Amino acid sequence: MERSLVLIKPDAVQRGLAGEIICRLERKGLKIVAMKMLHMDRKLAQRHYAVHKGKPFFDDLVRFITSSPLIAIVFQGKNAVEIIRQLMGETNPAKASSGTIRGDFGIDIAYNLIHGSDSLENASTEIDLFFSAEEICKYDRKMDAWIY
Ligand code: RTP
Ligand code: MG
Repeated sequence: MERSLVLIKPDAVQRGLAGEIICRLERKGLKIVAMKMLHMDRKLAQRHYAVHKGKPFFDDLVRFITSSPLIAIVFQGKNAVEIIRQLMGETNPAKASSGTIRGDFGIDIAYNLIHGSDSLENASTEIDLFFSAEEICKYDRKMDAWIY
C-alpha cells in the first residue's frame, strides 16, 4: 500500500476546514496512519519545499507555511499518492474543478489549503521529514475488506 504526506495548511486550520478536508480523504477509504499538529519552522519549510528554492514565490511560500500551525498526516491506501492529488485538485484553486478540495474552498494560489506528495519517491522523503518510523501506526481495519 502506498503512503502519502498530507499537510492541512495554515489557511485551512485558521478557516476551520481541517475536519472537512480530513473527512473527504477518510471517506474515500484512505487510512490515517500518523497525524500531528505543529508550527513549521523556516528550516523545515525550506527542506520540505527545497525543490522550489530560487523560484519567485519561494519566500512567500515559506512565510505562509510557517505563519500558523498546520496538521501533518500520513494517509495509506492503494494508489494513495495519485488519489489524494485528484481529491486536492489543481495547484491554483481558481482553476481547480468543483468537487475538489481546492476547487470548492480556495480562490488564490497562495492559499490552497492542502499539500499532498506528488510522487511515491517524494512521499517517502516528506514522511521522513515529519515523522519517525515509530510514529507510523500499523493496524488493520476490518472495513478495508469492503474497500478493496
Ligand atoms: P503543494 O506542494 O503545496 O502540495 O502544492 P502543489 O504540489 O500543487 O504545487 P507546487 O508546484 O509544488 O507548488 C508549491 C506551492 O507553491 C505555491 N505556488 N505559488 N505564485 C505561483 O506561481 C505559485 N506557484 C506555486 C502554491 O501555494 C503551491 O501549493
Ligand atoms: Mg508540490
